[in-house]
Amino acid sequence: MIAERAILIPNSAIRQFFNLAQGMENVNDLTIGAPDFETPEYIVKSAVKASLEGHHYYSANAGIMPLRKAIAAKLERDNGISYDPETEIDVTIGATEALGLLMMTLLNPGDEVILADPTWPNYITQILMAGGVPVRVPTFEKDGFSLQVDAVEEAITERTKAILINSPNNPTGAILDRESVKGFVELARKHGLYLISDEVYEKIIYDQNQHFSPASLPDTKDFVITVNSFSKSYAMCGWRVGYVAASEKVITPLLKLQEGMASCANTMAQMAAVTALEGPQDAVNEMVKRYRARRDLMVEGLNKIPGISVEKPGGAFYLFVNVKGLGKSSQEIATELLQKTGVMTVPGSGFGSAGEGFLRICYAKNDELLQKALERIHDVVIKDYCPA
Ligand SMILES: Cc1ncc(COP(=O)(O)O)c(C=O)c1O
Repeated sequence: MIAERAILIPNSAIRQFFNLAQGMENVNDLTIGAPDFETPEYIVKSAVKASLEGHHYYSANAGIMPLRKAIAAKLERDNGISYDPETEIDVTIGATEALGLLMMTLLNPGDEVILADPTWPNYITQILMAGGVPVRVPTFEKDGFSLQVDAVEEAITERTKAILINSPNNPTGAILDRESVKGFVELARKHGLYLISDEVYEKIIYDQNQHFSPASLPDTKDFVITVNSFSKSYAMCGWRVGYVAASEKVITPLLKLQEGMASCANTMAQMAAVTALEGPQDAVNEMVKRYRARRDLMVEGLNKIPGISVEKPGGAFYLFVNVKGLGKSSQEIATELLQKTGVMTVPGSGFGSAGEGFLRICYAKNDELLQKALERIHDVVIKDYCPA
């Protein structure tokens, strides 16, 4: 018999739509949140060099020391946080492994983790895999989908172990401002909880918005945990390198679990990650500039379509598009869009019940594909949803 844990875990809505499209031709895929840019060449070259030089061995569980040092320098420089590379940083197989290991390290069966609804579905899987209980706090379009400190406080029970925040956010692109981040830190401090901050989209941020790390606030090392990755900032999803920075009390037991799970991240990819952090950052800025232009193109185009509206998000590369005016469920609309036009989106309900009435669109795609998708959505809405 298969374990209950595996049965309990829901299928990812993103993957469901991906599977539906298998075998279809001429699909405009706006689902998976992977940058369409290639990893900058100087990063790729450093991995090739590492490989040719024979760096084919396991690394320490926590990762190669040059990378841990580069991460510590980055956290100091960009985020104003001091972590000791010897004991407080662990390199992982993407932020995904970091988050999965964290849940296994922090949660006893029945412990609760509070997080936003809608939310990245993998958090739910990770919490459930660790025997924990996800507690979803709804966020609303009127607040720009920002998680509200008061609402989180109301959700705290005696089983709450951690609050998980993610800014810029997947799936909504919402940003938590400095005051809200401070609010979550004080809440966690007051109730003796961990605060996990998933900062994988920190570099993909627009306009006047600024990223603010909760761990930069004083006296937070005991309970604030920072998770980050190379996937989004450096277009390195497939390299699978991320990290977690926290107190030694968290990192030491987490490393034991990492040994049992995967031992360490890919050594050559870790070497490329050093180059990513220490090399020129122009490629990152250029990608963000192009994402911003695509965001504007999509927001403008979608807002011209009857029954559809979307606010400009402050970060990440997703739009959470209001389709309530089309009069059907987000699942039905996403299915019909795919079947009638080949445009693949993800129904908002796949990110939690607060996502109903919305579609998630990832615009980390080339301009031509985005333009075509806009035209197709426009035409099907005019024809099938808004009869004259
Ligand atoms: C909010 C969020 N956190 C973490 C991740 C995982 O990133 P990685 O590729 O580093 O595992 C993703 C990937 O989509 C994400 O959207």
